[in-house]
Amino acid sequence: MSDKRFYIETYGCQMNFSDSEIVNSILMKDGMQPVQTAEEADVIFVNTCSIRENAETRVWNRLKEFRSLKKEKDDLTVGVLGCMAERIRDQIIDREQLVDIVVGPDAYRDLPNLLAEVDDGRKAVNVLLSLEETYADISPVRTSDNGVSAFVSIMRGCDNMCAFCVVPFTRGRERSRPLKSILNEIQQLSDQGYKEVTLLGQNVNSYQYEDVDFTQLMDQASKVDPEMRFRFSSPHPKDFPEPLLHLIAKRPNLCSYIHIPAQAGSDTTLERMRRPYTREQYLNLTDKMREIIPDVSLSTDIITGFCDETEEEHADTLSLMKKVRFDLAYMFAYSERERTLAHRKYDDNVPEDVKKRRLSEIIEQQMNIQEENNKQEIGKRHLVLVEGESKRSSEQLSGRTDTNKMVVFDRKDFQKGDYVEVEITDCTSATLMAKPVKKSSIQEFYAEPALV
Ligand code: 5AD
Ligand code: SF4
Repeated sequence: MSDKRFYIETYGCQMNFSDSEIVNSILMKDGMQPVQTAEEADVIFVNTCSIRENAETRVWNRLKEFRSLKKEKDDLTVGVLGCMAERIRDQIIDREQLVDIVVGPDAYRDLPNLLAEVDDGRKAVNVLLSLEETYADISPVRTSDNGVSAFVSIMRGCDNMCAFCVVPFTRGRERSRPLKSILNEIQQLSDQGYKEVTLLGQNVNSYQYEDVDFTQLMDQASKVDPEMRFRFSSPHPKDFPEPLLHLIAKRPNLCSYIHIPAQAGSDTTLERMRRPYTREQYLNLTDKMREIIPDVSLSTDIITGFCDETEEEHADTLSLMKKVRFDLAYMFAYSERERTLAHRKYDDNVPEDVKKRRLSEIIEQQMNIQEENNKQEIGKRHLVLVEGESKRSSEQLSGRTDTNKMVVFDRKDFQKGDYVEVEITDCTSATLMAKPVKKSSIQEFYAEPALV
């Protein structure tokens, strides 16, 4: 046991934020106390991301800042958690003297032991990846969310091996968390008043636990609490299950929103990326989504400037995005990562300025599409789950529609966690403005109109 104070700073994806909640739980069970700033802490952890070079650069800079803090406070311990751990452990411990402890994403249970080693004056490392670890029995401690929407991890790792992606190397093989422990966690969240859960995994449609697949998991999860909304992230276009689309269409608390990473719009780029689908298959899939769930909102991830990408291939990505008219897109310039197939076999040969220009072209087009899409919303009614005060004004609340669009409206008597029926009055490319109509619920808002 230890009564030290710890602080965790988290970078990267939702999965990483979810892991930090697991680390919270493990450390608090060991007697340690969470604090909100690095300055108050005896132990500082940085939960790191390797997905792109700039994510790593930010972490390195932060570690250097902590080194100066260490100079003032010599019993301060600094640790690196997560995706950067394995790759840079030697560098981090031997050469830079920045860090005392390095722990990979599958070794968090070992943290109390590792901290004890550090107390004995040693550096401590555990970066072993596991075939089984899902932290199924650990209840995450959510210290920093809004108390309304939470993330629940359903699987870890990834076996897809996209040519650009470091995740299979940092997070290891794919494994699914037992169904029962997922349902228990959702029940607990519901008991604590949470209203929205996003089920998380690097590749959710591969979820398989005993005879339960991803669609069955969504079915069972959404039955835990009919007034709780469910989303998921991220599925893969290669094997998105059609039965799930029908389930989303008929189950009011399964959100009409699907994040479906395309990465590129050209067959040849997709092939080099080792994404096993064609442009046409992707477009057929998004058509099907719209056909089965008419109001569905779609978002995507795009990488621009991948190895050997030609102007023509880039134009195909632009045209795919124009065809689908995504409501949201996360767009990135390709960043070469060690150990990936692209690093071993291809040349990162699209010049930086060309990558930048192509990225701004897709961003500009996307912003215009989003604004046009949002304009279509004016006059429509939506059910918004209030997440809290709007960033701009304490007189306004903000929350999301079922379709995951951010909405801002006057506070009146509404509160965080309420479902509010609103009418959209105005928009930007990122936000909808609305006037509140009345407090409502999923059941009430989506009730079939009475047959006369
Ligand atoms: N360079 C740029 N973007 C990347 N992504 C993954 N790897 C890379 C990389 N090497 C993007 C993908 C993925 C998202 C999480 O990050 O679009 O879907
Ligand atoms: Fe970053 Fe990928 Fe690791 Fe998430 S899984 S933290 S995005 S490298």
